[in-house]
Amino acid sequence: MKIISFEGIEGVGKSTQINLLNEFLIDNQFSTEILREPGSTKTGELIREILLNKDNNLADETELLLMFSARSELIKKKIDTLSCDYLLLDRFYDASIAYQGYGRNLSKSFIKNLISFINCPIPNLSILLDISVKEAFSRKIKDKKDRIELSGSDFFNNVRNGYLEIAQDNKERFIIIDASKNIDEIHKDIIKKIDYDYQHGI
Ligand code: TMP
Repeated sequence: MKIISFEGIEGVGKSTQINLLNEFLIDNQFSTEILREPGSTKTGELIREILLNKDNNLADETELLLMFSARSELIKKKIDTLSCDYLLLDRFYDASIAYQGYGRNLSKSFIKNLISFINCPIPNLSILLDISVKEAFSRKIKDKKDRIELSGSDFFNNVRNGYLEIAQDNKERFIIIDASKNIDEIHKDIIKKIDYDYQHGI
């Protein structure tokens, strides 16, 4: 099973691209599964509620540990039992390094220990959809903001820069896509990469 994770700040168009890629893969006779983080298990969705509810004033450490509790459920109850050709992940552990590490300024080495502790599989491909914080938020202007989205532009600039650094540090599995391009262009860029990897047995 190949794991493809989609990363980026809010408003970059992850869900749209995941759905387009999913359709493309199914049209090409591959079996697929889409999972989102935090969530996609019974307990994970309950944890997601706690994490995103703006009435909850959570300590940063609590936020981190809840992300990993949801992730541990996802790995043990879902990912470890799957046997599809492609698993498409709407965020994975890189999000914790970007949001809780770079955004909340929590220890990145501790986060990496948590990643090992719960045995996170390494994605075959991670797609970073990158866009400026200003443009990302202008796309979501009408949406009600959840607890994390209310964290302010300094926080999101740190998260964005964190993601770019993570992608640089993990060049063997990351591609960075300019998410200010139109939906079709982005989809074509993604397909090109997946096709290339498939042809070359990557
Ligand atoms: P989303 O799925 O609607 O993007 O919402 C999930 C929110 O949780 C989003 O603000 C990113 C955040 N998040 C983290 O802060 N750390 C994580 O490890 C993950 C998976 C998500």
